[in-house]
Amino acid sequence: MIYLDNAATSWPKPPEVLRAMVDFLEHHGGNPGRSGHRLSIEAGRAVYETREALAELLNVADPLRVILTFNATHALNIALLGLLRPGDRVVTTAIEHNSMMRPLRALEKDGVSVVVVPSAPDTTLDMAELARAIQPGTRLVAVSHASNVTGVLLPVAEISRLAHAAGALLLVDAAQTVGVLPLDVQALGIDLLAFSGHKGLLGPPGTGALVLGPAVDASAMKPVLRGGTGSRSESQEQPEDLPDKFESGTPNGVCLAGLGAGVRYVRQRGLARIREAEMRLASALIRGLAAIPGVTVHGPLDSAQRVAVVSFILAERSVSEVGLRLDEESGILCRVGLHCAPGTHRTLGTFPEGTVRFAPGPFTTMDDIAAALRAVERIRRQ
Ligand SMILES: Cc1ncc(COP(=O)(O)O)c(C=O)c1O
Repeated sequence: MIYLDNAATSWPKPPEVLRAMVDFLEHHGGNPGRSGHRLSIEAGRAVYETREALAELLNVADPLRVILTFNATHALNIALLGLLRPGDRVVTTAIEHNSMMRPLRALEKDGVSVVVVPSAPDTTLDMAELARAIQPGTRLVAVSHASNVTGVLLPVAEISRLAHAAGALLLVDAAQTVGVLPLDVQALGIDLLAFSGHKGLLGPPGTGALVLGPAVDASAMKPVLRGGTGSRSESQEQPEDLPDKFESGTPNGVCLAGLGAGVRYVRQRGLARIREAEMRLASALIRGLAAIPGVTVHGPLDSAQRVAVVSFILAERSVSEVGLRLDEESGILCRVGLHCAPGTHRTLGTFPEGTVRFAPGPFTTMDDIAAALRAVERIRRQ
C-alpha cells in the first residue's frame, strides 16, 4: 500500500505518537485541570506541554494564546464566529476550503459583508485585486496559507502588510502548511492562525489549534462553546481567561499527548529538511505526471510556490475511475473529487468533477512516487 493522502490526514504516525497516547491512557489518564489528584495534574501537564511545544514551533510568545481544538475547522469557527459581527467587512479568496467558506457564508446571512478575491487560473492570488479589496474599515482578511487542491502558497507576509495598513486583522488557515515548512507567526505578521494537528504535525485525528496573536482582543470575541473549564467554578459565567474561554469541556487529552509527540518528532527531524524532502518528491511527481500523455497537472509548476499537494486529471478517464483503479490495481491511496474546496475547482475549471490529488508526506519515498507514476501510466494505456 502506498499512502498519498497526507493532505487529508497524515499516515502513518511516528511510533512516538502512538507510544505517547498509550502512555497517557495507561499512566496519566485523569481529567486535565479539573481534580487536584496526581492523575489530573499529570494529564494537565501533558496537555500544557503540547500547548508549549506548539508555541515554540510557531514562535508564539504566550502559550496560553494557543487554543487547543478538535481540528482546523473548529479553530476557524472559533476565529470567525468569535470575531465577526453584523456590519463587519471580511476579505477572503476564491480558493478557500469549506471550513472557511461555510462559516463565512453563514455570517453573511447575518449581515457580515464577505468579499471574495479571485485567483488566476493556476490558483495564484491576484494581489492587485486583493489590495483593492482590502479597504480601510475591513475588519478581517482571511486566507489559506496553501491550497489543499493545488498546493499553491499564498504570500502571507505581503498579505499581512496590506491587512495591517488598512487596520484589519489577518487570519490564516494553515491546515496545509503547519508541520511541512518553517512557519513563524511573528515574522509573517499573522494575527490568528488555525491549523490541524493530524496533518503535517503527525498527531492523531481530533486535534488542531487556533493561535491568537497579541493584536487580537480576546475579550471582544464570543466563544462558540460555553461550559466547564475547571477554573472559576464559582461563576455561572464563562471565564475570560485564556485559553479557558475557548476550551470548554474535557479536552481530548490522549490525542493532545499524541500531538505533542508529533510536534517534537517534526522539530527533531527539522522543518527545513521535511520541506526539502517533500518538495523533491513533489517535483518528481509533477515532472513525471506532466510527461504522461493526456495528463494535466494543475497549479503552479514551480516548487518554491507550492507545498507537496499535486492535483491532476487524465483525459477520457473520470477522476473516480482513476482513484478506484489506483487503489484496487496498485494499492495507491489518494483523494479524488472536490476536496471540500469548490471555489478552487471553479477557478481551475475542474468543477464539478474535481481532480485526482496526490499528497506525499514525510514517510513517502521516491520509489513510492515512481510506482504512482507507473500506475497512472497503466491506467492511461488500459
Ligand atoms: C486548507 C484546509 N483548511 C481546512 C481544513 C479542515 O481541516 P480539519 O479536517 O482539520 O478540520 C483542511 C482539511 O483538509 C484544509 O486542507
